[in-house]
Order: sequence, then structure tokens, then C-alpha cells
Amino acid sequence: MQLQVGAGPIAELAADAVVLFSFEGEGEWSSLARQVNAYLDGGLMAAVSRQSFKAECYTVLALTPMGKQQWAHVFLVGLGKRERFDRQRLHRGVATGLRRAQQVRAEKVAVCLPEDLPSFGINAKDAGQLAALGAWEGTYRYDELKSHREEGSVQEIFFILENGEERADFEKGLAEGDILGQAVCFARTLTNRPANHNTPQQMADAALEQAKAVPEVQAEVLGREAMQQLGMGALLGVASGSVQEPKLIVLRYDGAPQHAQRLALVGKGVCFDSGGISLKQAKGMSEMKDDMAGGAACIAALLAIAQLHLPINVVAVVPAVENMPSGTAQHPGDVQRTMSGQTVEVDNTDAEGRLILCDALTYAQRELKATHVVDVATLTGAQVVALGYHRSAVMGFDQAFMHMVLQAADEAGEKMWPLPSDEEYDALIRSHVADICNVANQGGAGTIVAGMFLGRFIEEGRPWAHIDIAGPAFLDFETPYQAFGATGTPVATFVHLAMHLAS
Ligand code: BES
Ligand code: ZN
Ligand code: MN
Repeated sequence: MQLQVGAGPIAELAADAVVLFSFEGEGEWSSLARQVNAYLDGGLMAAVSRQSFKAECYTVLALTPMGKQQWAHVFLVGLGKRERFDRQRLHRGVATGLRRAQQVRAEKVAVCLPEDLPSFGINAKDAGQLAALGAWEGTYRYDELKSHREEGSVQEIFFILENGEERADFEKGLAEGDILGQAVCFARTLTNRPANHNTPQQMADAALEQAKAVPEVQAEVLGREAMQQLGMGALLGVASGSVQEPKLIVLRYDGAPQHAQRLALVGKGVCFDSGGISLKQAKGMSEMKDDMAGGAACIAALLAIAQLHLPINVVAVVPAVENMPSGTAQHPGDVQRTMSGQTVEVDNTDAEGRLILCDALTYAQRELKATHVVDVATLTGAQVVALGYHRSAVMGFDQAFMHMVLQAADEAGEKMWPLPSDEEYDALIRSHVADICNVANQGGAGTIVAGMFLGRFIEEGRPWAHIDIAGPAFLDFETPYQAFGATGTPVATFVHLAMHLAS
């Protein structure tokens, strides 16, 4: 898919579809919309009033202009109230329009961007980035396993700017968003892949294959034997029920070799979470193929950061395993010795994410010398209870670093929310037989408790943030701007975080 800036008068736009935007409850139209309306002999305005189109957020008025043959479709996308417009609405608005354009098999699409973006704090470069990201997100489809793929896909997109002077900055943003958007789609595809097409080995192979195309990235995959030598008892314990060998996927990008700073992105890579001996119920279990979404996001984000040549050192560490019940599976009550030296009682084998992540966190700090650590995981059902599908939860001990992650999310057009990390929660993971237990000895605050468990594996004073994406990683419904399935969160946030740390 090609993304570029379109120029010239509206009437000469050669496109199958044109996408426009309007705000809710406003009689005033943007100059681009007025031009399109004039070109359609007032047809756009007439349709708006005939259909009582209100421009509520992400609603779409579809028009098939007669006579003007070069445009088979016009989509007017509502952006909701002007006061509430922000980066996420720009990104999702663009995605909404392009998703509709793709559904009618348009190949060439012109997108007339909303005007006055700087008044919303969105400069031309940001706008370019968000527009490109929206383009990739909106046109994404997961169809690699269909015998008959849906026909037609958007090939070329022209973004029409009201203010042509800022074209160079917009194009810079477009180029960044192009890389970012493709990374998000890669994470989505890995996550959408069923477990029989995405074993730990296959996930590692997919990462290696992508890494090969980016010469700045070094890749390494550790198997069971290496894990045994490193003493990763918790990770190996989870893997012990599966016939699939666990893989620790490690990608490395040294964009600032003269600096000691190194950001580690550590992601949960449970290729299938059956719960293990603490088996999950059948209903909804198939969704647990998405339990490696965090790992996929780390791999994709590192690749994007390297492609953008950001001046920063980054590692991605992804323990990839299956959590299965079998005669070789770990039992509830087993005690494992982690790489950190701490022992863990596995009271519930379904709380496996924290078990694989704790060893990965130790590896990132001890072996890879990470100075800043972010981990991301579809870690707890409690996250879905607390925040649903629209915001991820963030925790950490370093308020400044946590704030930096939240700000990066905001810039990336992703939504997160902070959770507390008081020591009272930490007291809940006491064990009678080991140093800590993998589940709380009391109900409530499941997401925080899981975060506190991970915090036990962070070296004193090291900036660390933990992101629980259990809800937002995978949508079992469609939205106007997104297909059913994996979302690729928080790839964009990670890239923005790297931009911050690099500057
Ligand atoms: N992968 C799940 C968490 C999850 C649940 C993600 C629903 C997405 C949707 C995780 O491994 C898990 O099973 N967590 C348990 C922990 C519990 C046993 C302490 C949970 O949340 O129920
Ligand atoms: Zn899990
Ligand atoms: Mn589980």
C-alpha cells in the first residue's frame, strides 16, 4: 500500500473513493468539504440533511455520486464533537474511512484530512504519522488461512491537506507512520494466528524472518537447554506440560552504542493458555491463542524502532511457551526456583504469565544489562473486569517512568490507565513454603497483585513499568475502525516511548 500527499484541485482527483470528515453539530464545513460538495453539485450537503447525518463519532455517511464517474464512493466520516477531538480520533477517523473504502473494493482513495489540526495540538508531522497508522489499521485483514481471500484492497492513498505549506513535515510523519503501521499489522497477524500455526518455534521463526530484513537487528533464540543452564525454573515449569519446546526470543538493536542506557521490552509469549492442570473452562478458551500478544508487540516494536533508526539501545525479550495439562505438566503446589534465585510456589498453573515473565525480566536485567524495563502481557482477567477492552492497565514503582509510558500512549493514540502499587498488595503473595506464591491468598485486585509479583523481579531503583493488555489486545467484536481480532497494542506506544528516551 502506497501512502502519499495528494495535490491539485479537488475536481481533478483521480480516486475510486474520497473520504471526508466532519464534526458533530456544526453547520460550518471545512473548505475541503465545501469544495467536494460544490463539485458534487451540492449532493453531499443534500445527503447530510436527507439522512439526518449527525457526524457522531465514527459514523459514516456513504454516497455513490452519479455522473462524476471517477469517484464511485464518497464517505463522510463523523468525528464527534469538536471539543473532544484528539489524536486517537484522527487516527481512528482515518481508519474508519479507509475501512469502508476497502469494503467497497476501492483501490485508490483520497483522504481529505480535517482542518485546523494544530488547534488540537496535532502538528503536521504528528498528523502524517497518525494518518498512516490509521491507514494500515483500517485496511488490515487477517485472511492468510482462508482458501478464498476477499478480493480488493486499497493500493494507493492520497492525503489531501488543507494547508499545503506543511507538506514536508506531514510527509516525514507519513514515513514514520508507514513503518509503525506495518509493525502494528505484523503484531496483529502473529496474534491472530491460531496456536497450531504459531507454536513457540513458529513464533520464533516469524520473528527471525522479519529480523533478517532489518540489518540493524540481531536476533537470537534460546531453547530448553540454555534455559536450564540459566536456571529459568519458572519458565521451564510452565513449558513442562507441552510437547512444544519453549523458546526465548531475543532481539537486539544498538542504535546508540556510545550510551549505557538500554530499554528492554519484555513480552508474554504464551502461544496457547489452556490453564495447565488448573484447566480453564471450554467457553472462550480458544481466545487464549492471543496470550502471546504482548510478546508480538515487543518484537514488532523493536523492528519498527530499528527501521526508524532511533538513537537508542533496545532489546526485546519474549519467552514463548504453551501452557498445557499433561503427565509432565507442573502440579498446583509445585515450587520452582527462578533465575533470580527466589523460589515460587505455583498454587495455580493458570497464573503462568508472571512465571515466564519473571525469568525473562531477570534475563533482561542481568544478561542484557537493561537500564529501563517495560513488560507487557495479557496477564489477568481482572484487567478486563476493571477497564474492559478500551484501556490497558499500567503499573510501576517509578512514577516518572510510568508517567512517560502514559504520555507515550497518549501520543500514540492508545489508551492506558495507571493502577497503584502499595506494599499492602505485595503482602498478598506470601507463601508458606516458598519465597512467594504466584497467586494471592486473598481475593480482589488481581491485576495489581500480578504486577506486584513481577515487581519482585525488578532490581532496586530500576525504572520499570508493567502493562496489562488482557482486554485491549484482542477484540471479539468489530468496530468501525478495526477488524475483529488482535489490535497490535501497544506497539505504537513502545515506539513513542523509545522516541522519548532517545531524546
Ligand atoms: N491469559 C490469562 C489472562 C486473560 C484472561 C487474558 C482473559 C485475556 C482474557 C492468564 O494467564 C490467566 O489465566 N490469569 C488468571 C490468573 C489467576 C489464576 C490468578 C486469571 O486472570 O484468571
Ligand atoms: Zn495466560
Ligand atoms: Mn493463564
